[in-house]
Amino acid sequence: MRMRSACFMSALAFVLCTGMSAAADQDRPSGPLPPTGLLCEYLPNPAAVDAPRPRFTWELNHTERGQTQSALQVLVATDSSFERGLVWDSGRTASSNSTQVLYAGPALQSDTAYFWKVRFWDSAGRESGWSRTARFETGLLSRADWKALWIDCRGQVRREFVIDKKVKRARVHFSGLGYSELRINGRKIGRSVLNPAWTTYDRRVLYDSFDVTEILRQGPNAAAVMLGQGWYKGRVLLFQLNIEFADGEKTTLISDETWKTADGPVVSDSVYDGETYDARLETRGWDRPGFDDSGWNPAQAVPGPAGALSAQCLPPIQVVDTIVPRKMANPAAGVYVFDMGQNFSGWARLRVQGPSGARVRMRFAELLYDDGRINQENLRSARAEDVYILRGGEEEEYEPRFTYHGFRYVEVTGYPGVPTLDSVRGRVVRSAVRQTGNFSCSNPLLNAIQQNVLWGQATNLHGIPTDCCQRDERMGWMGDAQGTAEEAMMNFDMAAFYANFVRDIRDVQDGEGRVTDTVPHVWGSRPADPAWGTAYPLLVWYMYRYLGDVRIIEEQYDGLKKYVDYLRTREEDGLVAFSHYGDWVSVEETPGSFVSAFFYLYDVEIMRDLARVLGRTEEAKAYGQWADRVRKKIRERYYDAKTGRYATGTQTADTLALFLNIPGPEERGRVFDNLRSDILYEHDTHLTTGIMGAKFILEVLTRFGSSDLAYELAGQRTYPSWGYMVDNGATTLWEVWQNKTGPSMNSHNHPMFGSVGAWFYKALAGIEQSADSVGFEKIRIAPQVVRDMTHASGSIRTVRGPVAVDWARSDKGLKMDVVIPVGSQAEVVIPVFTLKNVVLREGASVVWKEGAFQPGAEGVVEIKADGSRLLKAKIGSGRYSFCLSGD
Ligand code: BGC
Repeated sequence: MRMRSACFMSALAFVLCTGMSAAADQDRPSGPLPPTGLLCEYLPNPAAVDAPRPRFTWELNHTERGQTQSALQVLVATDSSFERGLVWDSGRTASSNSTQVLYAGPALQSDTAYFWKVRFWDSAGRESGWSRTARFETGLLSRADWKALWIDCRGQVRREFVIDKKVKRARVHFSGLGYSELRINGRKIGRSVLNPAWTTYDRRVLYDSFDVTEILRQGPNAAAVMLGQGWYKGRVLLFQLNIEFADGEKTTLISDETWKTADGPVVSDSVYDGETYDARLETRGWDRPGFDDSGWNPAQAVPGPAGALSAQCLPPIQVVDTIVPRKMANPAAGVYVFDMGQNFSGWARLRVQGPSGARVRMRFAELLYDDGRINQENLRSARAEDVYILRGGEEEEYEPRFTYHGFRYVEVTGYPGVPTLDSVRGRVVRSAVRQTGNFSCSNPLLNAIQQNVLWGQATNLHGIPTDCCQRDERMGWMGDAQGTAEEAMMNFDMAAFYANFVRDIRDVQDGEGRVTDTVPHVWGSRPADPAWGTAYPLLVWYMYRYLGDVRIIEEQYDGLKKYVDYLRTREEDGLVAFSHYGDWVSVEETPGSFVSAFFYLYDVEIMRDLARVLGRTEEAKAYGQWADRVRKKIRERYYDAKTGRYATGTQTADTLALFLNIPGPEERGRVFDNLRSDILYEHDTHLTTGIMGAKFILEVLTRFGSSDLAYELAGQRTYPSWGYMVDNGATTLWEVWQNKTGPSMNSHNHPMFGSVGAWFYKALAGIEQSADSVGFEKIRIAPQVVRDMTHASGSIRTVRGPVAVDWARSDKGLKMDVVIPVGSQAEVVIPVFTLKNVVLREGASVVWKEGAFQPGAEGVVEIKADGSRLLKAKIGSGRYSFCLSGD
């Protein structure tokens, strides 16, 4: 979705760089450069962390190739000069760790700002300069630090207070449920909307912290909060303003019964149904000092939600983009339909001028009827309608606060006069995770699918990963979450978001170890379908694999153990068979019991691997034996030796079996051949899978050497396929393969089939890790140069920094540009048609000629032929440009 501008930016950067003078080049420093991209708990300069020992991450920079970090030094201080208030000096510590460095100083103080910086020593022991200073602040670290009381509120609540001396530091810590907007002295604080993220409120409530030092002033001040119902379905506030004066004195303003509350202009608000806002009810100046609130009621102190208060350590929900509608139609008198050209989550901003009391109604939809009117049938019971009642007079602007919609079309009725294209703007609202991946290739259909994946994924991040963003659901369905997690981690910086979601999952776990289909639990069952519950172990596993996060394993190990122990109690004749959804929304049905058995095995294998990471050798052994028993049992129960297929012989059944190596070595080839012929001959190169099969099928085809077929499936245009969606006008992924528009289950923005996006990066761009690597320390670049594809380019931002591949082939040969971050090494697998007379260059150096490695190019450690069709180059960090040609 950002691809076009990202390309433009890099082109611009290139022009700027190449335009630099040679003299400037000489002045450029060489060797290790100061680390950049400093993160604490996966966030840049977080305003509140509550981990007792936060973790630091940085990206290493070096002018030479093949570089690593041999030692590090981190300084943490309460003073940004580091001359005073030094809290921790790690000293020069031998370590290659730049991604998960634990704070190891004395206990951190509550509500305190800390500054940190880092430098490193490279493999030759040369020292980099210090990084720029980053910061993190602690939240309120213990419950006792919270003096504030939860108060029950109407739509608005306020409190004035006087400050009579100079403020040195002021921090607000607050949580307003369901949704809240904080204002101080007439200004909205922060850019978040729909805040805080939804959690299981009786287990955990998220609070935010803001620096308001510059906003407070000597004299009277006003704190004011607007509250919406959100998922809490009520309005309560916890607010604490901690002020430190220049003379060292401290004071605290808390929410209590001295606050005043009243209804505001938001007459009704509901996540599903929308918001009604009556501008005539606005009370000017209510969020500033000096307002007469004598007619308002005192707020009541209430017990509030039971959950522990936890700092909101994930990117907040924000308005991330504004869309200009493509066109406006007028399908009936007084009915105007705006087409945004894109399905997304958010709302519309309205501009209008008219008489006081005029009601403008905006209804949101993904679809149109043939007559051009909006079709809301597939929203089921969600009304998805915002109403704005005009103040009257000058031009007015309105956008809602406490609802959001999933839509492409906006119908406007009741507009005084005739609107123009400028009367409405689309506002894209979602968790503001950064897009960190880009993929494009020579096949325009795959590029269109990638755009649908990006938009579908991004606009379903709303504090939790949701199934959809338009109808009466928007739940954290766990099957959808696990199915898309790898794709999401390739495309977006999901680290802090998933770290929080894993805690959300833990929050729903009960004493028996059961988790739920949706998290927080509203829809679906407890226990979760095993294919949905697997989100718990699988997300922890991905966090470990992608980020090298061991702490999450330590934190979740007991919960995970309880989860698989629970599954064991549900064994029927050695396998878990219960199932609610199986291979959800498939074309051909695979027995749910088989799908559950597969995920049971997967979970136990993940436990084995997690136990190994924690050094729990005995437990790892026991899980290993447990997994062996389950694997054997699946084979006995589900393998049909006559047909050479698993279960009912669907694509999903054989795919799942192959993915976890369930068939013995002697059966594997046969099962795979059957899978191939099912796709090719029985279904004319089409999928029959639901979401569970779709997650693995392309990867399995690639693993068994059939990337060409995987590519044809991915690029199929007729039903059922991702291309069929594109050709039928989809701008996000659909929930079902069929093109449905009626009142049934058919959301048109449902990311769960987005797993194809992970395959784009892993297979077509060829960005992978070796099996024993975590956090992309050992990278494997092995692009699949398939069929008619002439070019593919993929880049992701790993926890160590950017990894990028850009390959293109022509009559002259193959070129492959590769970027590997400092601290990583890579194996680059270059396909060749024949090894005879092949010459491989890296930049200007010949690195392979006459069947042998030609050493000398910086960072190229060695190159070997693997059989007659592959060259494998071992390289260190840096940018490389390989070029393969016949001599
Ligand atoms: C949701 C799905 C979910 C499914 C489970 C649907 O209503 O939208 O995405 O995984 O239910 O059955």
